[in-house]
Order: sequence, then structure tokens, then C-alpha cells
Amino acid sequence: MKIKNICCIGAGYVGGPTMSVIALKCPHININVVDANQDKINAWNGHIDNLPVFEPGLSEVIEKTRNRNLFFSTNINENIEKAEMIFIAVNTPTKTEGKGAGMAADLTYVEACARDIAKYSKSDKIVIEKSTLPVRTAEKIKEILISNNKTVNFEILSNPEFLAEGTAIEDLFKSDRVLIGGDDTESGQKAIESLVNIYKNWIEKEKILTTDVWTSELSKLASNAMLAQRISSINSLSALCEKTGANVDELSHAIGMDHRIGSKFLKASVGFGGSCFQKDILNLVYLCKFYGLNEVAEFWHQVVKINNYQKERFAQKVIDHFDGNLTGKKIAVLGWAFKANTNDSRESAAIKVSEILYKNGASLSIYDPKVQKRTIVNDIQNLWKIKNSMKEKKINIVEKFAATNDCDAFVIITEWEEFKNIDIDDAKIIFDGRNINENKNKFSIGK
Ligand code: NAD
Ligand code: UGA
Repeated sequence: MKIKNICCIGAGYVGGPTMSVIALKCPHININVVDANQDKINAWNGHIDNLPVFEPGLSEVIEKTRNRNLFFSTNINENIEKAEMIFIAVNTPTKTEGKGAGMAADLTYVEACARDIAKYSKSDKIVIEKSTLPVRTAEKIKEILISNNKTVNFEILSNPEFLAEGTAIEDLFKSDRVLIGGDDTESGQKAIESLVNIYKNWIEKEKILTTDVWTSELSKLASNAMLAQRISSINSLSALCEKTGANVDELSHAIGMDHRIGSKFLKASVGFGGSCFQKDILNLVYLCKFYGLNEVAEFWHQVVKINNYQKERFAQKVIDHFDGNLTGKKIAVLGWAFKANTNDSRESAAIKVSEILYKNGASLSIYDPKVQKRTIVNDIQNLWKIKNSMKEKKINIVEKFAATNDCDAFVIITEWEEFKNIDIDDAKIIFDGRNINENKNKFSIGK
């Protein structure tokens, strides 16, 4: 099928950047990114410095494509109707209630998309799972589509996204691989070909892998689990290093030089954050349990448990340094984003570490170069379940690093470039949780 119009449902961290790159590389295709959130769409259409997603290089791509062949709107029905290809790029958070709560992926948003697609489709569609989904979700999507629309033929493909935040545009330009899963039928293979033809505009053919839908869906969960596993492995060893006097960064370097192991994702840190690693591993654990693979489930669950342990262990170090009492202590938290070069704070280690410090009596000055003040306030109110402390001035969100000057100790969480050479008074105490190799004194206290 010749693709002239694409619709992407979900204008978030995946939908916005991926579609802007497809629009840039495929000027012959019109792309409509739709979202139910009017404020977000307004921001995508608004000033280039205030896009809802901060990513290096994104604004340049948006400037070239927006209102040329890339459009953002809340007009879901019309854009579904006119597209030949529809990407589903909505959020798939961990379920908070019902069967599988705390573990399984919440597919409410994906199912709502499938119902909308069925309702507004008048011609054949290729429907693409871009969101990260449990294996065999395509079956459920197909069921919704077919039972709600008997006149149109739907082909479902899985095309998981592997971009990392902070390097999304670079990752999309030079993907390690693009994975496409589809049915082994004539129409399934034709649908795969249509998507391959889009990626072929800038990705080398050898890097475009095709497989069946289930393998593609599971590859995404497995890929995130393997990456996160490496971080938990090195973080677990960081605890042993501290007991034995070994240096975790040098250990990581020594291990990583073995080409069979490799050096990536072996930087010890205060714990991984981000909206996906924890959620995807819990989802994998749930799937293993569902299929009765309890030992396999426990193996992967341990990756998340070590991550929680690491965040708590780091906070406890600060508390121990002050002899178990943070009352009256003023602590600067440097970095709220879950990693550098993003404005995303979802599941950031900063949220957990700061909560522990605050609940042990500390007052906090929080500074991040890109995360908006209102996001930090929302995180605190929603996740710590406290309401009044902002008024009590026990938590201060500051707009400049200099405003943290009067603090007793500095807790550095995010590896922002501007924190690399910050000038902190020699007398102050620094707890450094960043995952940068140059930092020799990880978890060091004092200078
Ligand atoms: P996000 O929360 O940033 O964006 C999702 C958007 O979908 C939101 O703007 C929301 O308003 C919209 N939405 C939800 N339901 C809708 C509906 N029925 N109709 C219209 N709009 C709807 O999420 P994200 O970070 O972009 O992640 C999306 C998916 O991609 C998830 O499954 C995630 O696991 C996966 N993923 C994320 C990343 C990442 O770096 N964030 C990378 C790879 C894969
Ligand atoms: C991760 C994967 O890297 C992407 O391939 C995937 O597409 C994405 O999840 C997703 O599915 O959402 P992301 O979470 O954006 O990307 O960022 P990463 O670079 O993977 O970092 C995740 C966390 O691990 C950060 O908190 C980072 O600081 C931490 N980290 C990373 C370490 O602690 N040590 C390391 O060596 C590397």
C-alpha cells in the first residue's frame, strides 16, 4: 500500500520525536499527530522554546517540518479516517488497580485507541503498535477492531521504539535497528513492506529486522530488561565495593573492557529512573508468573528490587552521616530529571531519595535546569502524599544553582553537564549519585 497519510495517536515523548523524524525524512508523507490532551497539543503548536518534550535537536526538526508535513491536533476522528497507517504511541503505565495491579501494564489507553480506530475507519488500515506492550497484545487489539468494525481490513504490526530520552533524535537518525513484527500472511507481509519502505528513507536495509508480532513485542520488553539488569548488576556490586574499599568505577571499567561484556550500561548510579525500565520489567515479571514461570519471574523481579535498595541505600548514607538526624539540616538536591538532557522526571531517583531525606527531617532546596517547577510540585504532592510542606518552606524549588548556597549538604542526582564543574564551598558535604565515570568518589562524603 502506498502510504500518503500517517496518523499517530499520542503526542508524548515517543509520538512527538518519532513522528517529527519520519516527517523530516519522508517529506512526501503527511503526518498528523493527535492527542486527547489539548494543552499538550497547544504546546506542540506553540513557541519552539516551550515544546512539551525537551530533547537536544528536536526543536530544529520541528522547525523544519511543523505545518509542512507534520501537524499536531486533537482532531482524532478525522485523522484516523484519512490515514492509511496509524501508529499507537500512547502511555502503557503499570496498572494501579484490578487484576495485576502494581505489575501488569494498563492497556486502557491502547484499547481506547483501538475502539476509536474501529469507529472512525472507513478504509483499510495498517495499525502499528509503537507503545511498549505485553506479548500477544496485538491479539486483543485485533479483537477490538474486528468486533467493532466489520467492513474494513486491519493489519496489525508491532514496531517497538528503542530511543532513549536525552538522545532521542540522534537515536532516531541512527537507530541500531528497527524492528517490525507482522503476520505471515500475504496482507501481513505487504503491511510490513509498507513500513519497511518508510524506514528505508534513512535507515540502512540491514538494520531493518522483520519478524512475527509476538517476537517483536517480547523483544522490546527483553531489551529493556537486559539494559536495566546491567545497571542493577553494577549497582549491587557498588555496595560490595564500599564495604571492601574497591572502586566501583574502576571495577566497571575493568569488567567492561572485556569485549564479551562491553562497557555500556555499567555505570554505577543512585538507581535507574525513567518511565519504562521499572514498568517494563514488572510487566515481564507478571507475564512470567502468568505462564507459571516463577523462577524466571523472580530473577527479573530482583532487578527492580536492587534498584529500590540502591535508592534507599544512598539516602541512608546521607542520614547516617548526620548521625541519623536531619532535623534542622538544609540539603540541596541537584537534579530532578531521571537523566540528563530531558525534562522528564518520571520514576526519577531524585523523587525517592528526596522523599526519604525530607521525611527524616531535612528541609530541601531542589534545583533542575529543565524540569519545570510545576512538575516537581506535582511529583511531590502526588507521590509523597503531602500537601502543606511547600507552604512551611521546608521545600524550596529554586531556579538557579546559586540559590542553594546556604545548604549544609549537596546531593547530586542527575548527570547534567552544568553540575560537572559546579563550585561548591570546600566545607560543604557532597553526596554524588551520578553515573559518570570521571567521578572517582562515588557516594563520597566530604571533599
Ligand atoms: P507519554 O505519556 O509521554 O505520551 C502518551 C500520550 O498519549 C499522552 O500525551 C496522552 O495524553 C496520550 N493519550 C493517551 N490515551 C490517548 C487516547 N486514547 N487518545 C489520544 N491520546 C491519548 O508516553 P511516552 O513516554 O511517549 O510513552 C508512550 C509509549 O512508548 C509507552 O508504551 C512507553 O513504554 C513507550 N516508550 C517510551 C519511551 C520513552 O523514552 N518515553 C521509549 C520507548 C518506548
Ligand atoms: C531506556 C532504553 O535505554 C531505551 O532503549 C528504551 O527505548 C527506553 O528506555 C524506553 O523503553 O523507554 P531511557 O529510560 O530514556 O531509555 O534512558 P536510559 O539511557 O536507558 O537511562 C535509564 C536510567 O538508567 C537513567 O536513570 C540513567 O541515569 C540510568 N543509567 C543508565 C545508569 O544508572 N547507569 C548506566 O550505565 C546507564
